[in-house]
Amino acid sequence: MDQTRTNPATAVVGLQWGDEGKGKIVDLLASDHDAVVRYNGGANAGHSVVVGGERYSLHLVPSGILYPGVKAVIGNGVVVDPEQLLKELDTLSERGVDTSGLVVSDRAHVVMPYHKHEDQVREDELRRAQEGGARAGSTVLQPGQIGTTKRGIGPAYADKAQRASAIRMGDLLRPDVLRGKVELACVFKNALLRGLNGSGAHAFDPGAETDRLLTLGERLGPMITDTVYLLHEMLGDGKRVLFEGGNATLLDVDHGTYPFVTSSVCSALGIGPGTGVPPQRIGRILGVSKVYCTRVGAGPMPTELDDAIGERIRERGREYGTTTGRPRRCGWLDLVALRYAAMVNGATGLVLTMLDVLAGFDEIKVCVGYRLTDGSDTDRFIPDGHALAGATPVYESLPGFEEDISGVRTRAELPPNAARLVAYIEERVGLPAEVISVGPDREQTIRG
Ligand code: GDP
Ligand code: IMO
Ligand code: MG
Repeated sequence: MDQTRTNPATAVVGLQWGDEGKGKIVDLLASDHDAVVRYNGGANAGHSVVVGGERYSLHLVPSGILYPGVKAVIGNGVVVDPEQLLKELDTLSERGVDTSGLVVSDRAHVVMPYHKHEDQVREDELRRAQEGGARAGSTVLQPGQIGTTKRGIGPAYADKAQRASAIRMGDLLRPDVLRGKVELACVFKNALLRGLNGSGAHAFDPGAETDRLLTLGERLGPMITDTVYLLHEMLGDGKRVLFEGGNATLLDVDHGTYPFVTSSVCSALGIGPGTGVPPQRIGRILGVSKVYCTRVGAGPMPTELDDAIGERIRERGREYGTTTGRPRRCGWLDLVALRYAAMVNGATGLVLTMLDVLAGFDEIKVCVGYRLTDGSDTDRFIPDGHALAGATPVYESLPGFEEDISGVRTRAELPPNAARLVAYIEERVGLPAEVISVGPDREQTIRG
């Protein structure tokens, strides 16, 4: 029997700039699955799950962890901060969550303290370069800060590509290999930091770093395994696997608003390299989108509202980062970006979140095209941070709805103008809204 047909896996991915509510949706679907798998990113992700008013903020641990018996898999494409992982597991255990189902790929790369330090130093340098250029009246376009989460994500992925001195989770269990790699890494990192910060730069001690990792390895050892074989065995046995995207498509290093992106392939295209599971195994790709837009960090967002409407969305949606607490930039839904993201992912269905947040607006605007600096219009997305900055949105307007819909549980009960917005998005993207979310809680959901 062809298992790829009878047993397709599902993926949940973000179609915007992150924080679409992926954690809530993965938690919702996890009860019907045997494994939930992260394939990209690291502790830059912040996924919130709310069950019966209890909020869980997950960064590295997959959002299926709340169901005992569901395997929570951190795939090889993730960059793991081992201290952060243990802290997260301890916090969950203290709250009575059974975390024994967690496994980590032996090939997942380790985020080291020098990666976080380098992340900070690079951001400082980018700011200084931009400020210096501006002071000197330079016409050179400096990208400026990316506004990273400072979790060391970019430097860790850069070292993965650099190879020789990069540390993988499996190395925590083989001291000789680990020691050699850490020594080499400290030579490179200390030279880099000295170069940028001079003789007063912080220097990392290879002996202390190795000992720290070996101690972490003693606790993490039982969780470290070959997750590629594990996942193929599960799929071969007819088990149901759910992939959980970290970050989101418009932050994808290849297909997002580069350079204002993260450093991994966050779209569903990253599942293959990030887990070793080939694309034909994935039968259902759910793209999650808010019914408006948000973004944290730098980079263009054509529909951003720097006014009372944006502020109202931020307050009603509690749009403050799960990872850094930063206020999120808010604006109307961008259908140009959404259609592009659905296309790149090969999405088979939509999940629309935060519909409750738009209650009380007289009109709801939706961006259907961009006007470019030469005066022409386009309905194609521009996946380039500098070029997209020149696009201004062309809007259509839909009538708003007054009612509080956070208690609605079926589509038929939605106020007509809320239902009209959902149908409009479905029609414009060409995909059904398989799930509609009307509040943070697991229960505040309309299915089907
Ligand atoms: P993720 O990174 O995609 O998992 O999203 P985050 O958890 O970072 O951010 C989404 C935020 O919105 C969290 O605080 C959720 O609890 C909350 N949330 C999710 N769905 C809804 C919804 O439909 N309505 C409202 N009001 N909040 C929601
Ligand atoms: P979840 O999974 C929102 C953004 C950062 C920054 C850029 C690069 O919660 O949706 P990085 O630290 O990755 O080098 O930062 O990407 N970013 C996110 N924004 N949600 C996320 O994840 C994000 N992960 C990264 O704010 O602009
Ligand atoms: Mg988030």
